[in-house]
Amino acid sequence: MREVSNVLVTGGLGFIGSAFMRFLFRTNAFTGRVVNLDLLTYAGNPDNVAGFVDESRYSFVRGDICDQQLVSRLCQEHAIDTIVNFAAESHVDRSIAGPGVFIQTNIVGTYSLLEVVRSFPSIHFHHVSTDEVYGSLGITGAFDEQSPYRPNSPYSASKAASDHLVRSYAHTFGISTTISNCSNNYGPFQFPEKLIPLMILNAVERKPLPVYGDGLNIRDWLYVDDHVEAIWTVICEGDRGATYNIGGKNEWTNIAIVEKIADLLGRIQREEPGQFRSLITFVKDRPGHDRRYAIDSNKLTNQLGWRARHDFEAGLDETIRWYLRNSQWISRVKTGAYRQWIKKNYDER
Ligand code: NAD
Ligand code: DAU
Repeated sequence: MREVSNVLVTGGLGFIGSAFMRFLFRTNAFTGRVVNLDLLTYAGNPDNVAGFVDESRYSFVRGDICDQQLVSRLCQEHAIDTIVNFAAESHVDRSIAGPGVFIQTNIVGTYSLLEVVRSFPSIHFHHVSTDEVYGSLGITGAFDEQSPYRPNSPYSASKAASDHLVRSYAHTFGISTTISNCSNNYGPFQFPEKLIPLMILNAVERKPLPVYGDGLNIRDWLYVDDHVEAIWTVICEGDRGATYNIGGKNEWTNIAIVEKIADLLGRIQREEPGQFRSLITFVKDRPGHDRRYAIDSNKLTNQLGWRARHDFEAGLDETIRWYLRNSQWISRVKTGAYRQWIKKNYDER
């Protein structure tokens, strides 16, 4: 069991990093301090941490994971013993439109953090990664930790490169690392460029629900709180240098998800059946679109006892209701008002 005192979370203003910190502040298993280093890109939303921003054990620093001097200083000043790296460019479509920033943040950024960790031998480095590094599956099978890396998008290639760097630094320099490769997350505070929140928000506004290609691509979906609990388990109990896959055993075609959202929303808002389904619109496919992901997380379950606790139907219902209740969060994202705090406190980049 690894002792965790003070944690440097990178990318904590994003969807999963903020959920991880929410978990740290509610679990009795953690009593230390958290430093959140985030560059405040479009995906970094200060509203995501409103629930604990006044917590005395929390501090925020705006900065880039590529800035080795800054990261070294933070590790020194805050006696950091664990770094959890969520910071990344995370959206596949954006990586197709412009890969450069993915190379910089996901690859150079991870390399920079690893260079810092080399000079702090007591720090454990956990790297948060994705199932997309394994490429695309046919109709059967699931990725396990031995599956070969076959990334297909600039995003997944950059994450694959970062995983390899972490592995190589553990092997060559003996630093303490773990890596987790997780499937698609959903839940509150997810930026509405991703499938599930985009469909919820468009449906509420009676806008088209754009389904790429034939809608039969398959993803495995996991509630974000299950993911962050798995990460905590791996950090505390995972073998040094090891990789763990995290998944929900919860595969759905995209069209089935969109129909589910349409039906749940119809029920919640007491609409005529089929109202929201009529908004579904098939659009041009994503270039290089991976057909199917499925993840075998037996290693994590059998070795460390983790299992997903959220049922998909209930988690999706909860997520839809969260977006319906949090219209202010949504309108601040849509109007760009969530960036006012940044303009007030920092120079907008
Ligand atoms: P996100 O896009 O919501 O958040 C990313 C955060 O990183 C933002 O707050 C952004 O400001 C910050 N950031 C970006 N570049 C930075 C830099 N150079 N320095 C410091 N901060 C920077 O992402 P997410 O969905 O929360 O994903 C978090 C991590 O989990 C990523 O590494 C992603 O690859 C991985 N992951 C995501 C999913 C998913 O379904 N979303 C699934 C598996 C793995
Ligand atoms: O598998 C884990 C990955 O899941 C993470 O590593 C990524 O950070 C995360 O963005 C996610 O990648 P996907 O590409 O799977 O997620 P996205 O929400 O963009 O798309 C999910 C599926 O829905 C995918 O097959 C594309 C499709 N889609 C997406 C959008 C945005 C549509 O059909 N229409 C859409 O408008």
